[in-house]
Amino acid sequence: MSQAAPEISVGVVIPAAGSGERLGGQRKQFRLLSGKPLLVQTALAFERHPRVAAIVIAAPQDGVTEIESLCQDFGLSKVSKVVAGGQIRQDSVRIGLNALPDETTIVITHDAVRPFVAADDIDRVVEEAARSGAASTVATVSDTLCRSNDQLAGETVPRDGLFRMLTPQCFRREILERAHEMATDEFTDEVTIVRAAGYDVTMVETSPINIKITTQSDWDLAAWMWPAFVNRAG
Ligand code: CTP
Ligand code: MG
Repeated sequence: MSQAAPEISVGVVIPAAGSGERLGGQRKQFRLLSGKPLLVQTALAFERHPRVAAIVIAAPQDGVTEIESLCQDFGLSKVSKVVAGGQIRQDSVRIGLNALPDETTIVITHDAVRPFVAADDIDRVVEEAARSGAASTVATVSDTLCRSNDQLAGETVPRDGLFRMLTPQCFRREILERAHEMATDEFTDEVTIVRAAGYDVTMVETSPINIKITTQSDWDLAAWMWPAFVNRAG
């Protein structure tokens, strides 16, 4: 890169305070993926990225010291703070946002459980947020979609115009702060929070492999894909 203004300072908030209910109540962020805790594999993508100045991690209430130790053990030197997260992801992000260094002007949010984040995707979403104020990585939907409440297939939902909203998402700091101040409902990502506050969010189409590890089958897929991801060209 970079065409973004040289004075920007990029900070990352990594919400890692969940309880992994859909993975059998395991704290999946601590589970080892190729010898390192999942949240460490994810944080290392930002540690290594030249654009990133600071990282704040939101930990489970009883996991702050544990994550601080992991940061030491795995050389996560850009982690400026580990905070105790909140009841829902939105609270964890807000608490993390408030703990970013004062000089941070651009904020990336990225789930601890999405280790397949490419450096190039980080560049692109930062560029776009620096330009327009708010951006999210997205992936297109390619399967036929169907609504069902039982074992029978229900109506097919047209996939035209549907996208998977991924993280990283990226915002000018003042926009994300203002959106969090205004938020009265519960939202599962920052795009929804920022849109509810009246801002436009630009979509940046990226690789669909940047999955969120949610279930055991996601974990199995991730373990299988990880070596290829690490060894990919570029
Ligand atoms: N997260 C968080 N604080 C919460 C809940 C979730 O920081 N109170 C984080 C998770 O640790 C994860 C990310 O938000 O990195 C995405 O959440 P999700 O995949 O839903 O993880 P969990 O909430 O742990 O899983 P589940 O919903 O199955 O319990
Ligand atoms: Mg959750």
